[in-house]
Amino acid sequence: MNEEKRATFGGRISAVLVAAGSAVGLGNIWRFPYLAGENGGGAFLVIYLAAVLLIGLPLMLSEFSLGTATKRNAVGAFRQLDKRWVPLGYMGVLSSVLILGFYLVVAGWTAEYMIHSLFSDQVQNTDPQSHVEAFNNFISNPWKPVLYALLFSVATHLIITRGVQRGIERASKVMMPLLFLALAVLAVNAILMPGGMAGLRFFLAPDFSKVTAETFLMAVGQAFFSLSIGLGTMITYASYFKKGTSVRGTALQVTLLDTVVAVLAGLVIFPTVFSAGLEPGSGPSLVFITLPSIFCKMPMSALWSTIFFLLLVLAALTSTISMHESATAYLEEEWKMTRRKAAWCVTIFTGLLGIVASLSLGIWKAHTLFGLTFFDLLDYLTANIMLPLGALLTCIFVGWKVDRKIFEQQLYPDCRSGFAFRLVRFLVRYVCPVLLVVLFADNIGLM
Ligand code: PFF
Repeated sequence: MNEEKRATFGGRISAVLVAAGSAVGLGNIWRFPYLAGENGGGAFLVIYLAAVLLIGLPLMLSEFSLGTATKRNAVGAFRQLDKRWVPLGYMGVLSSVLILGFYLVVAGWTAEYMIHSLFSDQVQNTDPQSHVEAFNNFISNPWKPVLYALLFSVATHLIITRGVQRGIERASKVMMPLLFLALAVLAVNAILMPGGMAGLRFFLAPDFSKVTAETFLMAVGQAFFSLSIGLGTMITYASYFKKGTSVRGTALQVTLLDTVVAVLAGLVIFPTVFSAGLEPGSGPSLVFITLPSIFCKMPMSALWSTIFFLLLVLAALTSTISMHESATAYLEEEWKMTRRKAAWCVTIFTGLLGIVASLSLGIWKAHTLFGLTFFDLLDYLTANIMLPLGALLTCIFVGWKVDRKIFEQQLYPDCRSGFAFRLVRFLVRYVCPVLLVVLFADNIGLM
């Protein structure tokens, strides 16, 4: 497809909003707190922040550069620069589709919680145990969560087929500032609750005694998941950047926004967990059993709960759109399908994955592989294996295969690069690959 025919985002602010829309989502508000809760709180936060800075940001700069340099989807970008690396693009597209499979399920839960807040008085129930029961009953129901996941899938499909710019930009523009505001208000509320300080200590004071090699892998995997990198989504998105959009500025702002939202989510969740006497290591249910405990203590609980879950729905939607777009753009450009047909293929396939993932938490719970349900398997396989592997290979590609000038030109199009560029390149060439190899070796027991 030639450059004129490709869609572009409206400009600098839009680029930031749209890329941040992909990054900020359930990864920040659902996945980050539950992993931090299971892996020692503050210690996980420290490792996570280091991973974002040392590997996440350089990798985002690399993926953006591949996108702006080639103006192609994740597969096309590698095809244009070096055909032998095309499989890396395939792995990325596969990762987006697999993530979408379980992400749609959790996104469906947020939609159910939003609607439930409007029409039921469960929100006013102050017994934390009743929230745990309500959640477990809901996710193991054979119909409801499946229908919500499919609803989410259809909503994503509709936005994708209406085109890149209108849908995604608009949703991100409204959602992002409101989400910040809501999280900040909730964080203050949570910290002021009796027992809230103990939660704050858990989240901010690192206790490294619980840290293992796996904690590092989890933190690094979460950094990639949260920043939407290691799978080519950001290559696809950057390919729509308008000429003149700053790659450096956009990457910095997206990384910062994404990290602030994750930290804010921690500041909401952990004080509430401790105040309500819940378990920080409750796993994927953590946010869904904790948030109702904070809403029920607030005046106008139903309204607060509805607004917050609506924001979560929007945050999840701007992320599902980006995963869907990555796969749709691939089919459209590489297989020459119409956009409509490409989008249907992705929607149907990920919808089926979503159905199986959802049922694997209820009636198909007994069917496991390596001790994991299908839902957990998709999550583990993508975040802890495919994304770190994709990230490692992308660093090697950008650091060692792509001409230095191409990378430099994307980051510094109209001025001479200096120390900062040399530092980024050093991180991409040496630090990221070495850290990722050590991490893998350590986790498969080679070290
Ligand atoms: N970054 C998203 C989140 O934190 O919710 C999830 C995600 C979106 C992962 C897009 C991967 C991706 F390509």
